[in-house]
Amino acid sequence: MSSIRTRLAVAAAAALALAAPFALTNADAATAPAAASLTAAEALAVVQANMTTANKVNTKPHINTMTRAQNVNVYQVKPGVYAYTSGMAIDTDGSDPDPDPDHQGETTWEDSNGNALGAHHVPFYVLGDDCWDRTSPCPHFFYRERSMSGRQFALMFYNGKVIGSIFGDTQTANSQTTSDNDSRELGEASVKAAQLLGIPSSGTTGGVDNGVTVVMFSGSSWVVNGTNSTLNDNAQALVQKALDSLGTGGGTPGSTLFEAESGTLSTGGTFDSNHAGFTGTGFANPANAAGAYAEIPVTVSAAGTKTLTFRYSDGTTAARPATISVNGTSRGTLNFPITANWDTWSTASISVPLTAGANTIRVTGTTAVGAANIDSVTVS
Ligand code: GCU
Repeated sequence: MSSIRTRLAVAAAAALALAAPFALTNADAATAPAAASLTAAEALAVVQANMTTANKVNTKPHINTMTRAQNVNVYQVKPGVYAYTSGMAIDTDGSDPDPDPDHQGETTWEDSNGNALGAHHVPFYVLGDDCWDRTSPCPHFFYRERSMSGRQFALMFYNGKVIGSIFGDTQTANSQTTSDNDSRELGEASVKAAQLLGIPSSGTTGGVDNGVTVVMFSGSSWVVNGTNSTLNDNAQALVQKALDSLGTGGGTPGSTLFEAESGTLSTGGTFDSNHAGFTGTGFANPANAAGAYAEIPVTVSAAGTKTLTFRYSDGTTAARPATISVNGTSRGTLNFPITANWDTWSTASISVPLTAGANTIRVTGTTAVGAANIDSVTVS
C-alpha cells in the first residue's frame, strides 16, 4: 500500500545500471522520418485525440493524488487501452534494499519470484484496490473490471518523454473520504518511474501536480514478467511495440487520423453507421442546411502547415462544397465532389495552419443541402 503522505525524506540510493528511458522529444508529425513506427509525440497525439467524452469510462471523477482535485477521468483510447492524465505522487514502497525510513515493505503486486516490488528499481504505477462505490459496474475506473492485474504494462508520458511501467501497487480503503489514501485516487507512481521521466523522486518533496499521462494496456499478453532486477528492462523493451499499437492501423506513418464521431455537430446533424465502409464506429452526417457543420478535434505535437485529408461520401448528383475553418478562422472552401453512392468514400484535402496541441476543425456546408457525410480527417 502506498504511504506518500507520511513519508520521510528519501536519500536516493546508488544507481543501478538500468535501461535509459525513451527520451524522445516532441517531433513534428509532418516531418517525422517515415519509419514504420510511431514517435512518442505521435502516439501521445493519438491518445489525446481519443480522450473524449464519448470514450470516458468512469462516471464519477477520480482524485488527483497530488492536488486532491476530483477531476481525473479515464478514457478508452483504443479497444482495451485506457488512459488518464493526472499528477504524480511518489511511492517509495517495497524499496528494500534501499531502505526508506517510511516506506512499507510490501507492494500489492510482486515480481515473478514472489518478492515485493522495489520502488527504487521498478517503474510502477498505482491504482485503487477496490471499487470505492461498492457497486457494479463501478462508477470509477476499477482495474478488475478491465482485464487488468498485477504487472499490467502502461506507457507513461511526461514532458516529451515516454517510459514503460507496470501496475505495482494500490491505494487501499473505500471509506477514507478525507484521507490521502483513497481508492478513487489516480496519480501515484514509484521512485523509479519518476526518475526515468525526470520528475523529482523524493518521497517527501518530489512529484508533479499535473501533466503525466498513463496509458494502460489490458489483457494477459500485456502482463510483464521478471524480477526486481529485470522488470525495468523488460518494461522498457515493450515501449516501441506499445507506441506502434496506438497507431491508426494502416495509416501513413507520421500522419494521424481523427474520427469524425469524436467531434460534434450543429443542430440536426447525426452520427450514423448506416452506410458501409466507414472507419471507427460511424461517420458524421451534418444537417441538410447551409451553415450546418461537423466539428472534429485534432491534436498535433507541433505547430505548422498541415494537410487535412477528409474522408467523405456524397451519394447525390451534386458536389457539396464546404468551408474549412481551423479554430474559428476560415481557411478556404473544399468542393467534396460526388461519390458513386453513400457507401463509397473518397478524400478531399486542404493545407491549413495548425497550432501545437488541440485544434478544432469545422466543416460547414455552403449550400442548402449541407456538407457531405464525413468519416474522418487525417493530419499529415
Ligand atoms: C441520405 C443518406 C445520408 C445523407 C443524406 C444527405 O439520407 O442516407 O447519409 O447524409 O442523404 O443528403 O445528406
